[in-house]
Amino acid sequence: MYTAVNTAAKTAAKSPVNSAVNTTAAPRDYVHGYSDHETRRLADQADTLAALLHTGTAYPTGSRVLEIGCGVGAQTVHLVDGSPGAHLTAVDVSADSLARARARVTAHAPGARVEWARADLFDLPFPDASFDHLFACFVLEHLPDPERALAVLRRVLRPGGTLTVIEGDHGSAFFHPDGAAARTAVGHLVRLQAAAGGDALIGRRLHPLVTAAGYDDVVVRPRTVYADASRPALVEGFTRNTFVAMVEGVRDDALAAALTTRAEWERGMAELRRTAEDDGTFHYTFFKAQAVSPGPPRPRP
Ligand SMILES: C[S@@+](CC[C@H](N)C(=O)[O-])C[C@H]1O[C@@H](n2cnc3c(N)ncnc32)[C@H](O)[C@@H]1O
Repeated sequence: MYTAVNTAAKTAAKSPVNSAVNTTAAPRDYVHGYSDHETRRLADQADTLAALLHTGTAYPTGSRVLEIGCGVGAQTVHLVDGSPGAHLTAVDVSADSLARARARVTAHAPGARVEWARADLFDLPFPDASFDHLFACFVLEHLPDPERALAVLRRVLRPGGTLTVIEGDHGSAFFHPDGAAARTAVGHLVRLQAAAGGDALIGRRLHPLVTAAGYDDVVVRPRTVYADASRPALVEGFTRNTFVAMVEGVRDDALAAALTTRAEWERGMAELRRTAEDDGTFHYTFFKAQAVSPGPPRPRP
């Protein structure tokens, strides 16, 4: 059966973050990995969902914004577009992802003012209250203790500064034609992510998490993506290239963990792909939380 121990060993082989960076508080594994396939998937996801996820996020000229877990810069380019006058700093634990992020932003907006730092969000190399706004997208879902992460991040946010967090929730995925094998395959991803210390169902927990971490004025709004044949760009960009690609990405881990057989997996993927055909439909809900920092972090019991 699948264990956190064999996950950690696999990660050590495939992840660039293990040798050179202090990973004491980093996730034991990152379920999606750092492959070219995942780089493309993150970019497709961000570009397809940019309007849905970034509407309402625009930071004033001169404000200091920190993006946490920027990955390959898939969201960073949209932050730059939405807040061209802000001073953006982007951090990630992965040096390789940061290099890709820098290249992506430079190609997209050559004059953009972005500073890059390889850092663990639990141990950020910035003075207290250095930022007016924090932004994190699809990061908390990979952390064993997202509440502690949110609480720790308050140190670098000035009192009155804002936090924006975007997460998905795979329990919100439903589709037509429905299929038991498809649902089982999605369930395998949820289980693998949980075994790696994450939570693929975190969207529904955002309000209590952000509140418990000590933020004020917490507001969470669902942002739903619904794709059918009348929206071919969403079918391609979201159903095929984001969701189906994400599930496909854990095939080897699911097989290695003996969660499934090759035949059952292929049945599940065929059912999922089927939802992107002309008579198929796909629904998924993201959750966007916005909150305000009241001041220095409260010690946690
Ligand atoms: C799913 S990716 C999301 C990337 C980007 N925010 C996006 O939406 O495309 C999660 C990112 O969080 C980073 N990450 C995970 N744990 C971290 C930590 N403790 N400190 C900083 N970054 C972390 C990973 O390296 C990865 O690049």
